[in-house]
Amino acid sequence: MAVATVASPTTDSAHTMTVLDPACGDGRLLVAAAERLRATGHTVHTIGVDIDPTLTHPEGVDEFICADALDIDWSAVLPGGCADVVVGNPPFRSPLPRGQNTTSAPTADTGPYGDLALAFIDLSMTLVRPGGRVVLVLPTSVLASRDAGRVRRRAEQRAVLDTWWWHPDRVFDAHVDVCVLGFTAGSAPRTVPGSPVWSHVVTSSVGVPDLGTFTVDGTVGDRCRVSANFRDEYYALVDAVVPSAGATPTRERPALVTSGVIDPWQCHWGERPVRFAGQRVQAPVVDRSRLTGRFVAWAERLLVPKVLVAAQTRTVEAVADVDGVWLPGVPVVSVIPTDSPEVDVHQVAAVLTSSVATVWAWHQRAGTGLSATSFRLSPAAVADMPWPAGDLTAAVKACEAGDIDAGRRAADAAFGVDARTSDIFTVFMASLVTRRRT
Ligand SMILES: C[S@@+](CC[C@H](N)C(=O)[O-])C[C@H]1O[C@@H](n2cnc3c(N)ncnc32)[C@H](O)[C@@H]1O
Repeated sequence: MAVATVASPTTDSAHTMTVLDPACGDGRLLVAAAERLRATGHTVHTIGVDIDPTLTHPEGVDEFICADALDIDWSAVLPGGCADVVVGNPPFRSPLPRGQNTTSAPTADTGPYGDLALAFIDLSMTLVRPGGRVVLVLPTSVLASRDAGRVRRRAEQRAVLDTWWWHPDRVFDAHVDVCVLGFTAGSAPRTVPGSPVWSHVVTSSVGVPDLGTFTVDGTVGDRCRVSANFRDEYYALVDAVVPSAGATPTRERPALVTSGVIDPWQCHWGERPVRFAGQRVQAPVVDRSRLTGRFVAWAERLLVPKVLVAAQTRTVEAVADVDGVWLPGVPVVSVIPTDSPEVDVHQVAAVLTSSVATVWAWHQRAGTGLSATSFRLSPAAVADMPWPAGDLTAAVKACEAGDIDAGRRAADAAFGVDARTSDIFTVFMASLVTRRRT
């Protein structure tokens, strides 16, 4: 694991280094950073800003300004308009209050679920001088969430993410998982292709193997319609979900399948109770006669052969609904094969439950889960998953026979993964299952 550090932006020894914390609170981070820099021979001037009017001038901070860091004239605050080092443990708040992302925050495009911390990343990047350092404590969601994508891109255009710290336990007094990211600002804007993710901050610590080279033929989204339910569907289902009373699910009374009953190639509906609307229901079904308005057509659209994917997981968990008699709970992802190119639900399940899909998901989505060691699969993330160039017949056959490990190895082969890498993937997949059981 690389460790974030505030030390050593390149300066000459006569230079007084300006160290800024734009959300300094009681100043502890700023003072600690300044101490480290002074210990290495630098002359340091510290500036702390905080919006909280109840704060008194923090001890050890040279200059303290009570102001909204996202709405002040920084040229009047910083000598030369920029800082040598920006440190901070900025506020996390998600979603942003209405209007926050379009008014005071410099981040205008973080989407409705943007985090206030994203605005502080943008701000820090505008305030640091070329060659200077930015070191921030941030929620792990910034590493890979879609809403943070443009902020990551802007940060990479300005600076290189070169040091980081992450730990699976919550060592800070915060209700979210956090990481520390350290950047060195470049002297000129860099070209950044696509939308970068910073999942390696987590994957380098939890031993996620490299994907290496593998052969693909497009993506899952090229062959399937991928969707998830939202709050409206959830409320529409509340009055329609009833116990099955031992009856087999049908298209008229389909099973309600939530993430908790989905395992790779197995649906435990009827065996495990389903958590729904704050209750545990044994074998719930949806009485379609109780659905109204647009939800009548919504159910009709989904009651087709499909694959359902659990949304919060450590391995991608997907199961095929061959008869089209299940309805997904929120936020299960539904994957419906389209006609062209033609694929069937078993092939889709084999691809999604493959080791490649899980390793890929870790690299793309680490940091997005509710816990430090899980990821959240959005419909877009499932649609982006690679589809193998090779044949899936052996993978489907093994999985259908209940041998998921053999199925995964066969799917690895379809992706052109070599035997040694396939062994590494197998060990990694087993380690994820072990971690869940302990
Ligand atoms: C998580 S605390 C961190 C404090 C300190 N850096 C530390 O590590 O203990 C976040 C601080 O951000 C401040 N804050 C929130 N919004 C701000 C804003 N728009 N401008 C400046 N400070 C803000 C809060 O008042 C709070 O003191």
